[in-house]
Amino acid sequence: MAFSGPVLLKRIPNDPQQRKLLRYADYVATGGYASLKKAWGMPAEDIIKLVVDSGLRGRGGAGFPCGTKWTFLPKESFPRYLAVNFDESEPGTFKDRYLSDYDPHVLLEGIAIAGYANKISTSYIYIRGEYHKQAKILEEALLEAYANGIFGQKHPGTDIVHNCYVHRGAGAYICGEETGLLESLEGKRGWPRIKPPFPAVAGAFAKPTIINNVETLACLPYILEHGAAWFKSMGTPSSAGPKLFGVSGHVNRPGVYEDELGIKMSTLIDKYCGGVKGKYRAAIPGGVSMGILGTDQFDAQLDFDIGRKYNVLGLGTAGVIVMNDQTDLVVMLRNIVRFFAHESCGQCTPCREGTAWMHKMLSRIVAGYGTAKDFDLLLEVGLSMGSMPGTTICGLADGANWAVKTFLQKFPEDFKKRLKRDVVPGVTLTPAGAAV
Ligand SMILES: Cc1cc2nc3c(=O)[nH]c(=O)nc-3n(C[C@H](O)[C@H](O)[C@H](O)COP(=O)(O)O)c2cc1C
Ligand code: SF4
Repeated sequence: MAFSGPVLLKRIPNDPQQRKLLRYADYVATGGYASLKKAWGMPAEDIIKLVVDSGLRGRGGAGFPCGTKWTFLPKESFPRYLAVNFDESEPGTFKDRYLSDYDPHVLLEGIAIAGYANKISTSYIYIRGEYHKQAKILEEALLEAYANGIFGQKHPGTDIVHNCYVHRGAGAYICGEETGLLESLEGKRGWPRIKPPFPAVAGAFAKPTIINNVETLACLPYILEHGAAWFKSMGTPSSAGPKLFGVSGHVNRPGVYEDELGIKMSTLIDKYCGGVKGKYRAAIPGGVSMGILGTDQFDAQLDFDIGRKYNVLGLGTAGVIVMNDQTDLVVMLRNIVRFFAHESCGQCTPCREGTAWMHKMLSRIVAGYGTAKDFDLLLEVGLSMGSMPGTTICGLADGANWAVKTFLQKFPEDFKKRLKRDVVPGVTLTPAGAAV
């Protein structure tokens, strides 16, 4: 492991007073777009190989190897599209926004490199609907990039002109799921698609499409600049490179920080966030769909193996939410499940019904009307949503299941002490759990 300082955040000063939006000229003055020029001098296949060799895994949540995904594009099938996932709606996640707030050109350079490597003719930056400021920043940065020949030109050595657009989402979490995103991009309701076909074969407008997260693409200029071995020298064997961590909740200095993958959560919090505010109790490692780390898991290593090692779903977006011992975990879980119930697109019965029922049960428990049976029932409903592959179309349902099951498994007493009675005398249970 060798992290010697910020990579993705190297142009963004720590001190908020000194931060400013980097324009094209600022970016170029600090070495920006040199990697693209270098890429243009290389065969496209060599860039794909470099990205495969670097071990770069997707930063959007699933951690899929980026270069490998690119190799899934069918040969000689054109036009090809790139959809940049800037939906960033997972609660606790704000790293992509931070990057584009100050350094939008690093994303555009990453898009241009991915575009050249994969012979893309159109790139769409699908941006979360609420990100008005960020959309404006990117639109202005794009104009600068066009004016300087980054887009709107043929990829060197081809007849393919590469255009790039900002496409604003309409404010639904499910549009961050890659095929929900594609539907929304096509102007339809953001309903995830049944796979196969995978987007690399039939994606946007039924054409081969790569979908990558903002941070994933922002890594590319640095991989081109320093090479695969350098990238791999950071992190762990299965989780290479630097990583942005968005830390919120009960810490003294919440914010976006960068270190290498595999850093212990305790180190991240102590080194960058001024420690926990109060006494540490629990944390969510990477957005609320990943589940919860227990009190004895403060030292958990934040990398792509976290799921297997610490009984959570995964690293997700590395949006870490820290909770101290004053946190009501039952209310916290109720809020998380309310989010999933609201955001479920409703196509799959286990997800539509399951999230709604879990929300009703948790609301009932918070209101003091929970019964002893509710504990097992919550686990059972969760299981029906996430246990068998193919039960639902996308990962939202399993995310809700992991949130519920890990809260209940790791903090059973918090729930059980709210479930003292079998029935509450004189009270008719309301399915919605009354006034919460
Ligand atoms: C419900 C749901 C929401 C998601 N939201 C996002 C998101 O906001 N941003 C993102 O990059 N990936 C999101 N993903 C993951 C994407 O489906 C996809 O894996 C990712 O964009 C691929 O990019 P990457 O390989 O560069 O990580 C979401 C997945 C699910 C199941
Ligand atoms: S799992 Fe849920 S959110 Fe995903 S497609 Fe099915 S109903 Fe929609």
